[in-house]
Amino acid sequence: MDFEALEEACKACTKCSLHQTRTNCVFGQGSRDAVLMFVGEAPGEKEDLSGIPFVGPAGQHLNKFLAAVGIDREQVYIANILKCRPPHNRDPLPAEQDCCIEYLRAQVKLIQPKIIACLGRIAAMRLITPDFKITRDHGVFHQRGNFLITAVYHPSALLRDPRKNEDMYRDMKAIRQKLDELEK
Ligand code: URA
Repeated sequence: MDFEALEEACKACTKCSLHQTRTNCVFGQGSRDAVLMFVGEAPGEKEDLSGIPFVGPAGQHLNKFLAAVGIDREQVYIANILKCRPPHNRDPLPAEQDCCIEYLRAQVKLIQPKIIACLGRIAAMRLITPDFKITRDHGVFHQRGNFLITAVYHPSALLRDPRKNEDMYRDMKAIRQKLDELEK
């Protein structure tokens, strides 16, 4: 399936009940040639309304870190584990993740990023290991076939606890450094 067909299929998806309450399916945004892909949890209110990932307060906070380490948001690809917003932004249910994960896998196959950075514990637990502990394991890189995978704090967690901003800055700088090494 090509990118357009995948996006169409995702937008028409009724595999779980979240399609009943979504305004928009939030498929993903960014460059299809991205070397770096970010994967968040699920759309929030602003994302559901706009159809674009990370445009609300968490997204604006993420943008600050991207700018601080010199990563151009237009050069990366940003997606989520879930493409539809869970009511009241509750955590995605395992069954919802199971329904949705094939869209993300297909996105990864088409984009073929060299680095995947999970934003927060939900993505890290799904994509790295179920016993991932974000406070303990953030910033560690794992080789997975053709790509490296790591996790950083979710920007919403940083808004709740700004003491974590320093760790986020360090982890984002490390991602930037890996990108530089790959491009050498
Ligand atoms: N939080 C997420 O995990 N994803 C978004 O797209 C927005 C907020």
